[in-house]
Amino acid sequence: MIKTVIEPFRIKMVEPIKLTTREERQHLIEAVGFNPFMLRAEDVIIDLLTDSGTSAMSSDAWAGLMRGDESYAGARSWYRFHDAVQDTFGFDHVIPTHQGRAAEHILFGIMAKPGSIIPNNTHFDTTRANIEYNGATAIDLPCKEAFDLTTPYPFKGNIDTVALEKLVAERRDKIPLIMITITNNSGGGQPVSMANILEVSRIARAAGIPFYIDACRFAENAHFIKRREEGYSDKTTIEIAREMFSYADGCTMSAKKDAFANIGGFLCTNDAALAQQERNILILTEGFPTYGGLAGRDLEAIAVGLREILDESYLDYRLFSTAYVVERLDDAGIPVVLPAGGHAVYIDARRFLPHIEALQFPGQALAVELYIEAGIRSAEIGSLMFGLDPHTGEEHPVRQELVRLAIPRRVYTQSHMDYVIEAIGLVWKRRNAIRGLRIVSAPRFLRHFTARLERS
Ligand code: F0G
Repeated sequence: MIKTVIEPFRIKMVEPIKLTTREERQHLIEAVGFNPFMLRAEDVIIDLLTDSGTSAMSSDAWAGLMRGDESYAGARSWYRFHDAVQDTFGFDHVIPTHQGRAAEHILFGIMAKPGSIIPNNTHFDTTRANIEYNGATAIDLPCKEAFDLTTPYPFKGNIDTVALEKLVAERRDKIPLIMITITNNSGGGQPVSMANILEVSRIARAAGIPFYIDACRFAENAHFIKRREEGYSDKTTIEIAREMFSYADGCTMSAKKDAFANIGGFLCTNDAALAQQERNILILTEGFPTYGGLAGRDLEAIAVGLREILDESYLDYRLFSTAYVVERLDDAGIPVVLPAGGHAVYIDARRFLPHIEALQFPGQALAVELYIEAGIRSAEIGSLMFGLDPHTGEEHPVRQELVRLAIPRRVYTQSHMDYVIEAIGLVWKRRNAIRGLRIVSAPRFLRHFTARLERS
């Protein structure tokens, strides 16, 4: 049998990439204060800043845009969207939002109160911020294996269920809901096992606490379960996805990830009274409950995307193509987070640039060099992003200094990825000459987006 895994799609429309020279990139990155977020996208050759909203839609999804029913209330496109969400996620109530964080904003606006505690394997930034904005505390309880960046443990996205059970026993009254993020984006894009989801569900139900899934990359997570968890290899990925959600009481979702959409999201629940409250806020902040901040054409594109994302030949290719990059870097001795996650490659900048101290931002320094070397845009996830306590103004180096290369869905080919692998190898060869950075100016909150830096 042939072993080569191919991109299971053909390209019928292309977006030209402008090529720049190394010298041009040197000037461009300096002009934006060594912050790739501030570059113009057209000055980037391979854009791995995020996998969110950057996917390529299919011919079917584009046809869906033309079918979009733009009626204010009760549009055909709403029913298609609603049925597509229910078919996989299975929850009673579906609330459409313009993206994932809008779903979080509505959910936590109702459920998180000052003094509340909300545990998760690892909260994504916007999830944490929406919880904290309501005066509640977001607690991360990743499993112990997650701290070791190199062991091949298959489900490093798991929550620590022992710690969760202890927290629930001690603080039950303060916990309005328990969350789990699949895959665990902030923890290296690592999957959560079905056994772990089931155990969280058991703990939550025994305590009478609602259990929610942050479902952004649910299809990748389901496919990892099929590949790695005993008892699931003969199930279809959609059956696995349905089983995951059957253990939960609701979910938040960004359709910008595992629905191939450029915009969109939703919030689901089985609680009718809560859904009514959520719809009331939706009308205030997003729109009428049958469109919620989205055009009819977006609802159509998401309905198509939710079906396509569970295509197993796509998911085989998706997980393979991320692992392809990770394995080649690992073979070259370049420190990457292992095993490969679903949507991104994470380089361990602390081990890549051990001569640069945390507060000289080794992750940012590496991201800058990847841009200069080959026009690759990536994102630092380290002390620039999380090191400043905005309330006290103190700097605390974080535990991991990572650079994330997030791979947009169906956008780049294997030769683009070979180019990325070669570029990282070239930067690796000259790593000892790379210097750290210091901040010239930065806001207190979410500083990594707009900070200006210089070479130290
Ligand atoms: N939850 C997770 C796990 C996410 O990764 C994101 C977004 C969100 C929620 C929020 O969704 O962007 O639609 O409002 N992650 C993007 C990223 C931005 O680059 O990882 P959103």
